[in-house]
Amino acid sequence: MRIYDLITTKKRGGALTKEEIEFFVNGCARDEIPREQQSALLMAIWFRGMTDEETTNLTLAMERSGETIGLSALPGVKADKHSTGGVGDKTTLIVAPIAAAAGLTMAKMSGRGLGHTGGTLDKLESIPGLRTELSREEFFRIVKTCGLAVAGQTGDLVPADKKLYALRDVTSTVDSIPLIASSVMSKKLAAGANVILLDVKVGSGAFMKTAEEAEKLAQTMVAIGEAAGRRTEAVITDMDAPLGFAVGNATEVAEASAVLHGEGPRDLREESLLLSSELLYLAGHGDRETCMRLATEALTSGAALEKFCAMVRAQGGDDSVIRDTSLLPQAKITHDVLAPTDGYITKTDAESVGVVSCMLGAGREKYGDAIDPAAGVLLKKKYGDAVKKGEPIATFLTAREDALPEAERRFLAAVSIGKTPPAPRPLIYARVEKDGIERFT
Ligand code: URA
Repeated sequence: MRIYDLITTKKRGGALTKEEIEFFVNGCARDEIPREQQSALLMAIWFRGMTDEETTNLTLAMERSGETIGLSALPGVKADKHSTGGVGDKTTLIVAPIAAAAGLTMAKMSGRGLGHTGGTLDKLESIPGLRTELSREEFFRIVKTCGLAVAGQTGDLVPADKKLYALRDVTSTVDSIPLIASSVMSKKLAAGANVILLDVKVGSGAFMKTAEEAEKLAQTMVAIGEAAGRRTEAVITDMDAPLGFAVGNATEVAEASAVLHGEGPRDLREESLLLSSELLYLAGHGDRETCMRLATEALTSGAALEKFCAMVRAQGGDDSVIRDTSLLPQAKITHDVLAPTDGYITKTDAESVGVVSCMLGAGREKYGDAIDPAAGVLLKKKYGDAVKKGEPIATFLTAREDALPEAERRFLAAVSIGKTPPAPRPLIYARVEKDGIERFT
């Protein structure tokens, strides 16, 4: 088999066989295929797409490119939740403790920030002492004792995705439905959960910019999960504007802690409860109404907060910062961005806010860069809010004084202020199950 022929087939719009896909994936994982040929095939896939059968074969070949995690030794239903990436999306820090408090086993592998999007591991590591690099034994022990753990991917889990993702990131081939679906689902299958809930983001801050694209991605991933024998569902949620007010790392932990304490922004609380109750539903804890009640009780009773604190302690972290978030890392410089005019916020472009947060130090310019746990953006006004000229619409948190002028210019370009209040926007667009789509808009 020659990789050149695979590139030619795909370039002309043909379909690759299971064997050809395995040849490509294994060749990438073992560094046997030159990167220029890997990139050429990725770009051909980006332009030509893949059939459902090709996408499934790609996912399974990637899953098998490394080790898999058998969770069968752990008690109960093993549940996993995955977001396709967003700005201000700290729902894992709320959903995993709620689900664990309601009786699910959450053995969760998470990632770091990518591009303008944040990563759960970076957020968790802003908690002093907390480790996300856990040995397999530690990970299992913590899940057994606390009901949840959130760790980085072990070295050899889906090595093909690690290589291909890094290449996609620099060849402008991330936003392809078969490539995203296989990347996400290969990791979810290898991580071993019985129940998988996918949070597919749509909007300016997401990889999928339209509801149609998001539905197609959701349907593709649900079909792969179900075909592999896992209960899989997707919800499509808004990512046109950041979720909640906080974007960064420590600041997002503080906001998640507020929700776990029964406070915090309405959109974040609502979305976290929906995701938690869908996980319980998939795990067979009753009808949707019952599951929403169970999730709400786990949150309002403080049981989810206790679970989160137990996990933080078990992973080496200081949980006093969750109870008193002023003890989290604090930014050296706080800088208010003022409204240039009176009116109503009609747009806060999520992607741009994510980029600004990275410029302030919360994300990485390139792989391996250190991040500033205290950096980020704290929105003061969101979509639909009335503002007066000169009033703060956001506070920048940073140690980089020299980044402030450009960050402020970009932020102001990302915000629109209109004369009249905008129409309300949906938070949840649709629910995608193996049997169909339920749209809420
Ligand atoms: N998240 C992933 O894990 N992979 C993608 O391709 C996109 C988002």
